[in-house]
Amino acid sequence: MGDFDLNSNFIPALHKPSALLPIAKHHDSLLYLIEKNPITIVVGQTGSGKTTQIPQFLENAGWCSDGKTIAVTQPRRVAATTVAVRVAEEYGCEVGKEVGYSIRFEDVTSAVTRIKFLTDGLLIREALVDPLLSRYSVIMVDEAHERSISTDILLGLLKKIRKRRPELRIIISSATLQAEDFLNFFSDESDKQESSDGEKNEIGSIVSLEGRMYPVDTLYLETPADDYVEKAISTVFDIHTQEPEGDILVFLTGREEIDTAVQAVVERSAQLPSECQAILALPLYAGLSTEQQMSVFDSPPENTRKVIFSTNIAEASVTIDGIVYVIDSGFVKLRAFDPTTGIESLTATPVSKAAALQRAGRAGRTKPGKCFRLYTEDAFIELPDANIPEIQRSNLAPFILQLKALGIDNVVRFDYLTPPPAELMAKATELLFSLGALDEYAKLTKPLGMRMAELAVEPMMAKTLLSAPSFNCVNEILTIAAMTSLGGSIWIQREGEKKSMESRRRRFSVEEGDHLTLLNTYQSFLKNGRKDPSLFCYVNYINFKAMTRAVSIRAQLKRYLERFGITVDESHEGSTAGKSEQIRRCLTTGYFAHAARMQPDGSFLSIDGGTTLHAHPSSLMFNRRADWVIFHEVMETGNKIFIRDISKIEKGWLLEYGAGYYEVKT
Ligand code: CDP
Ligand code: MG
Repeated sequence: MGDFDLNSNFIPALHKPSALLPIAKHHDSLLYLIEKNPITIVVGQTGSGKTTQIPQFLENAGWCSDGKTIAVTQPRRVAATTVAVRVAEEYGCEVGKEVGYSIRFEDVTSAVTRIKFLTDGLLIREALVDPLLSRYSVIMVDEAHERSISTDILLGLLKKIRKRRPELRIIISSATLQAEDFLNFFSDESDKQESSDGEKNEIGSIVSLEGRMYPVDTLYLETPADDYVEKAISTVFDIHTQEPEGDILVFLTGREEIDTAVQAVVERSAQLPSECQAILALPLYAGLSTEQQMSVFDSPPENTRKVIFSTNIAEASVTIDGIVYVIDSGFVKLRAFDPTTGIESLTATPVSKAAALQRAGRAGRTKPGKCFRLYTEDAFIELPDANIPEIQRSNLAPFILQLKALGIDNVVRFDYLTPPPAELMAKATELLFSLGALDEYAKLTKPLGMRMAELAVEPMMAKTLLSAPSFNCVNEILTIAAMTSLGGSIWIQREGEKKSMESRRRRFSVEEGDHLTLLNTYQSFLKNGRKDPSLFCYVNYINFKAMTRAVSIRAQLKRYLERFGITVDESHEGSTAGKSEQIRRCLTTGYFAHAARMQPDGSFLSIDGGTTLHAHPSSLMFNRRADWVIFHEVMETGNKIFIRDISKIEKGWLLEYGAGYYEVKT
């Protein structure tokens, strides 16, 4: 063949040309409708190009010409970042230049940014400083079918903003067919526009993108699986050894399951017969770094089958090419808030029919595929048609605080796509009142309530931060707030080093609990890790990236406090000695509602006596004695309820700082 090497002479196209995406055919009509109507609803299957192409169409068509920006919101941080990276690549710029993203504690945009991906929660937050969101010419609310609580609230706000900004263009994109609901929501009688010939025009229109889909064979289990993680892993190997080429996408519910599964595939693949293709297992969930998240999009090495274990991120928000097989556990982790106990949990819940169909559809994008459902057909028939919108099962406190701060005093009459239940409203108002954010007329207090709304942490932590000056521990609470905002463990497990990890970890433990342990770890990191921070982390089994993030989050929270005129004196950094009680008292001012008491058997009982809670294995309190404690968060897994980030307190403090709350109770 001479020296003509096919592989080195041809390089594969970086991307499928965007002209081939289903959306390309709608380029002109979309731009026309967006120009003409304030509201455009775009419905199209995942992968049709809605998220990546529409903002580029708009930018090209001049929607940024007067210095304005196009906002595209996502319910998930992962989606906002990965999509921004992708669009920047297509656009030909660095992320943060013309195309950027902004998520809580991470703003990767600049003065030249024209297309900005952000979480819907962050856009609500932006309305606090710019109530009409005037820097945006177009706001695209993406993945609206998911009905995340932030999406719902944002749609309500946009409906109000629209009346003051008729030139604003709103695009709502959805992967399922609830388009009418969205349009009806925006089309109040009073909104119908009078056109020149006197005819009434609707304010918006619906565009359906026909996406090509190959048939997907759906297979069910004959009998229910005892353990869907184990079943998922064995199904991966069945596919790998029996089915033709094609990558596998597995839907599990969360990080722990996903890490277990990835690990199991790595271990068991060593036993594959030598003639078998290699298998590459990759995780996809929200706690991963952006680079790790991006690696699921890379094509696997030659002769290797890729298997991605994902949360429902991969259901609609991101599209991974090359998937031919889908394994659906049938579960998704959903937030649920119990207004009687006040406990918010993240529980693995059966998916809806709509979600199961959407998951199966991921297998038929490039050729005919197969979907293996790890449940029986009868179980499928029993599934609800759609999930209950998040707004009907969430702790509303953060949102009510935001709405009040936006000047929407009557939160009951706010225009919701689906109104939240009265008990949830009442519970949230009660908590905000007892935290001092609302007065007895349910009006936002100033400055406390207003500042709590502005701080980018949940209300209980916001209150704790704002109490810190009076306990003389601003420095310490800032660190604790940053460390608990990381949303994941700072400890790293290394294979076969469990013992040594535990003994290293013990060196950072502080008797009084997890909050002080986190503080101690952070301070050691700064002090002892000064010379070589990543080495310090490696030796101590600490996640270096997480620590770097904590440093950055802390700096951002500090800036908020300074803006409020709270001075942060860092000259005594490190001298926490003797402050333990002040710090725990301060934490109690925010977390009195999250209190529990240890029982003789080592489990905890919630304060109303109704719920048994267990210290999470990652907590210092997992095997130690305590009496009264407060905790940062509560999580339900299986049928056990875990609490994590726990600190010892005294009963009297609860009455001292949470008197209002506990009076209401008794
Ligand atoms: O938003 P929608 O689901 O309609 O589609 P999209 O996210 O805009 O994706 C359009 C195309 O870009 C798909 O074919 C994806 O495979 C591709 N894409 C990708 O390869 N990598 C990404 N990070 C995002 C999209
Ligand atoms: Mg999309």
